[in-house]
Amino acid sequence: GFALNARATDSSPARSSGTSDSLVFDTDAYTELTTTLSTDDGDKEVKYHFYKAVTYVAAPVDEKYQSLNVSVPVEIDGASVDASRAPVLLANSVGGYMPSSVADATGVGGAAMTGAPGGGTGGASPSGSPSASASAGTGEVASGGNAQLDGRGQMVSNAKLALAAGYVVVEPGARGRTLVDSDGTYYGVAPAAIVDLKAAVRYVRFNKGRIPGDTDRIVTSGTSAGGALSALLGASGDSPLYEEQLKEIGAADASDAIFASGDWCPIADLEHADMAYEWNWGGNELGSGELVDQTVSKELKNAFADYQASLKLRAKGFGTLTARNLDEYLLKTYVEPAATRYLAALSESERSTYLASNQFITWSGGKATFTWADFLTHVGARKKDAPAFDAFDLSSGENNLFGKGTTQARHFTQYSLRHESGGSARLDGDIPEKLRLMNPMYFIAQRNKGMARHWWIRVGTKDSDTSLSVVGNLAASLKALGAEVNAAMYWDKGHGANDDAGDFIEWIAQVTG
Ligand code: DHB
Repeated sequence: GFALNARATDSSPARSSGTSDSLVFDTDAYTELTTTLSTDDGDKEVKYHFYKAVTYVAAPVDEKYQSLNVSVPVEIDGASVDASRAPVLLANSVGGYMPSSVADATGVGGAAMTGAPGGGTGGASPSGSPSASASAGTGEVASGGNAQLDGRGQMVSNAKLALAAGYVVVEPGARGRTLVDSDGTYYGVAPAAIVDLKAAVRYVRFNKGRIPGDTDRIVTSGTSAGGALSALLGASGDSPLYEEQLKEIGAADASDAIFASGDWCPIADLEHADMAYEWNWGGNELGSGELVDQTVSKELKNAFADYQASLKLRAKGFGTLTARNLDEYLLKTYVEPAATRYLAALSESERSTYLASNQFITWSGGKATFTWADFLTHVGARKKDAPAFDAFDLSSGENNLFGKGTTQARHFTQYSLRHESGGSARLDGDIPEKLRLMNPMYFIAQRNKGMARHWWIRVGTKDSDTSLSVVGNLAASLKALGAEVNAAMYWDKGHGANDDAGDFIEWIAQVTG
């Protein structure tokens, strides 16, 4: 019997080592800021201590990215707050597996998106959504079309809401795939981002009692690539596989296990993402109206069946989840309930209007039902060409993520490699390990002991940045291990949606309470 850790504990107290002196958090190095934050309960005036651009490793490669900001609430609507035992939200703002820096932020939730046009104004992660083909390998990050605005016209930000709820907020930067030094060496490719984020977790725990907050209650959050990294933080806690890289950058000597993981539209399970994509969106046309290469699409889709079977996931009422019943499982478990919630929240007349223009939906007894095929038609254009992730011409962001040394981009699936280089070509020897280090599904399959027990997982039903099966399989694998999983989809929402941020903040109180 495998059981998840009762909690992520501080079982290994910070020991002093040669590198740790520089990692002692300076409790006095803050500026006091006051800001008005919109929440579900109206505006809140929050006075907080803002610690800016604190380097979290003793041997940084690039401090611009390997630094974090800490926001500690001291007064909310005039009432003083003691955050010394509050949950800690570790909110990353990684998008597109790009570098992310908090060094220029002027307050909570203000991380700049590298490469984002006008970056740094909205802060929250949804702004970092690269459009798949346009952004490929170029380092450009286009503005996502799905950001939620709060009552003040600001981007909804988990970090801001958490601060307004009295939590301690830590916003870590991390190296990303496009960083290249003067020798032409790519120093932010896999697994740099996860190593940095783990180092940030270790830093927070190492500074228990100096950074206010309960280091047994660290909750991570992230969106898209940042969602995948948040899931990876949750799944890979205290894994020895990162030890060497953590040592190299002078990470603090402390546990990197986390208590709970919040993951929005995670772009995870990259080595299976091409096949999953064709299983999900293979029949959908591109925005141009063109179909993708149908041979490629069908080959990848066929390969997905073996992968899905290998997961050996079961669900009540479905038996083993296979490529043949996974659509119905996702439809009944997530997609129809999302439509039901959406429609139930509308007024009678709004609902009539919506149903009139979406006649594939049957609305009966307060529930929405429809077929998977009709749902796919409703979603419409797929966002990515085939293969969606390991591009034949090495042009995807993920090709860059798996670059190495002075090589900007490499293949990471045998399918795409052999398509380009011939039937017997072999992936570079380090690729399997890099894939493992980037994939939460690997650590879940290994039943990693340091895994988070609580999970919040979300994706929009119109998000074709990856397959909806990624969320379905992540949630089902976690549930199979006895984790507490709160997983749901947002009806008709695209990439980066965060429709129930207030509920996430409440959920943190609940699971950490
Ligand atoms: C992101 C989006 C993608 O489509 C992708 O392949 C990787 C990352 C993102 O928005 O972070």
